[in-house]
Amino acid sequence: MKAIVYTSNTGFTARYARLLGEKAALPVYGLKEAKKALAPQTEIIYLGWLQAGQITGLRQAVRRYRISILCAVGLAPAVETQLRELRKRYQAAYPQLFYLQGGLKMEKLRGPQKWIMKIVCKSLHKQIEEKKELSEADRDTLLLLEKGGDRVDPSALEAILHDLHQTRQAE
Ligand SMILES: Cc1cc2nc3c(=O)[nH]c(=O)nc-3n(C[C@H](O)[C@H](O)[C@H](O)COP(=O)(O)O)c2cc1C
Repeated sequence: MKAIVYTSNTGFTARYARLLGEKAALPVYGLKEAKKALAPQTEIIYLGWLQAGQITGLRQAVRRYRISILCAVGLAPAVETQLRELRKRYQAAYPQLFYLQGGLKMEKLRGPQKWIMKIVCKSLHKQIEEKKELSEADRDTLLLLEKGGDRVDPSALEAILHDLHQTRQAE
């Protein structure tokens, strides 16, 4: 593994990428900047923010690099339903697949992203409120949807570091 490459819109994915870079002693590049710094087919860890269920920047990244570990950063907590959807879409091509909760910064969103997110927030809010019983994760998601917030958790990187350690041992 040679580097970490990421795409971030409001900064949460960038923070996870930098934290991971520090912990794994790997250089960290945004996707555009990586083009100058890394040769094609370099083996990387790719992190991208989730946009309507898709990992942003992945298509460009996979055209240029070998992605060994793939990580999505979204707004929802890492509940099983979220992970199941991601696995359906990505796990066949990327068996080392992870999900991290980032957060929501409405004030940093512009134009269509802002209004899409407002609609998404309303509909998620309604879905959660209709549940008979709310879990702690549900309550926290309601708070995040109402007020925005930062849920970056450095300890959530441990699972990725564990996988990385095993990948390095096999190299
Ligand atoms: C247009 C749009 C669509 C989004 N779609 C999803 C989604 O499908 N699932 C999810 O968990 N989060 C979704 N989010 C939330 C972002 O993935 C989340 O805020 C993430 O932490 C952003 O990371 P960043 O700060 O690196 O850009 C969406 C955000 C926007 C603006």
